[in-house]
Amino acid sequence: MTKPLEGIKIIDFTHVQAGPACTQLLAWYGADVIKVERPGAGDVTRSQLRDIPGVDALYFTMLNSNKKSLTLDTKTPEGKEVLTRLIKQSDVLVENFGPGALDRMGFTWEHIRELNPGMIVASVKGFSDGHHYEDLKVYENVAQCAGGAASTTGFDDGPPTVSAAALGDSNTGMHLAIGILTALHARNRNGGKGQKVAVSMQDSVLNLCRVKLRDQQRLDRIGYLEEYPQYPHGKFSDVVPRGGNAGGGGQPGWVLKCKGWETDPNAYIYFTIQGHAWAPICRAIGKPEWIEDPAYMTASARQDKIFDIFATIEAWLADKTKFEAVNILRKFDIPCAPVMTMKELANDESLRASGTITEVDHKERGKYLTVGSPIKFSDLKVEITGSPLLGEHTNEVLETLGYSSKEIAALHAASAV
Ligand code: COA
Repeated sequence: MTKPLEGIKIIDFTHVQAGPACTQLLAWYGADVIKVERPGAGDVTRSQLRDIPGVDALYFTMLNSNKKSLTLDTKTPEGKEVLTRLIKQSDVLVENFGPGALDRMGFTWEHIRELNPGMIVASVKGFSDGHHYEDLKVYENVAQCAGGAASTTGFDDGPPTVSAAALGDSNTGMHLAIGILTALHARNRNGGKGQKVAVSMQDSVLNLCRVKLRDQQRLDRIGYLEEYPQYPHGKFSDVVPRGGNAGGGGQPGWVLKCKGWETDPNAYIYFTIQGHAWAPICRAIGKPEWIEDPAYMTASARQDKIFDIFATIEAWLADKTKFEAVNILRKFDIPCAPVMTMKELANDESLRASGTITEVDHKERGKYLTVGSPIKFSDLKVEITGSPLLGEHTNEVLETLGYSSKEIAALHAASAV
């Protein structure tokens, strides 16, 4: 079966997480992704947080599956020549270097466009072009702070808090992948003209925090936010506060203790009080008298005692594990889930069956777990392969660029590859 992106050649000049997450996704769907890495060292994540001495770290392997690896020193004249040839034959160049690095290498957008007018140059930076922080280098948590996630995450009496989810890195990579596919589609319609696609980490975080921007405007207008735990008994300042585990919108929710919470830090479920599910909730937790009680029957009546209601539900949960609780609540159509640990997810049969978590082979590491495609297609079975060793495909790629074996040997001798 032909894969949807087969024939799209991508120069993958990315490192760490944001860029590699993007190109890995495109590789899964069939693009020919050639990761360009500095000879000798490669992507810094190959050696970061290693669990097996001398073997590529999981940090690298889990972000670079289905790719080829070409080592290339793009600061040497020979390396620049190889890159030039590669640009002429490729469709997309993806990079997430620090600001200005590609220009300093001699590959400005103007120059790349001259070499290949169809080229799509896709970049991740911490901040957008022209932003007053555009010169800053940025990592995940920096972006979460800059994009509004940290100030709105955590509890009211604690400091700004970052999320474990890679809102700055992988999320930006996903935005960039959408940008690249959009530019490829546009190229098909406009006579093969490429374009520059830029995504900033700050913008990508903010795009996911849009409901907090909504809340800022509501707060400006009315001075309170009724779905936050600060309402109605606490105080609001003039900025969106940290809302703890509160549910957004019209569905109050909270993380509730289940059996064993005293010793198991993850013996919790997330419980949502969906307005129209009030009657089933009352039946499920053994409080049928609340169904028609005016003090409880509407969302606004419940608002000032929502934490008392959660405490009642916790009392009901006290003799049930998180899995038992969800198995009961699902019969009442209540939106809820157990708080899952990484260990539980790694062994989850459904995630294994759907390929969302998958085991792959690596030449030196052996088998390891990685994430598979979260997007499922009716006409594509996404196969995940192990990540490449540093420079594993150097000679193969050079041959496709027309280099003879003698020239390839000379490039090695000059330490250009
Ligand atoms: N051959 C020769 N030189 C290479 C090379 C290669 N194959 N690959 C990279 N380099 C050079 C770059 O040209 C750059 O040189 P210069 O600064 O002298 O011009 C140098 O390596 C360092 O690159 P840089 O990307 O700035 O690395 P860093 O380790 O200092 O910074 C980041 C890392 C992630 C902070 C930075 O790349 C960044 O801010 N990127 C944008 C945002 C981002 O993606 N953040 C990370 C998300 S996971």
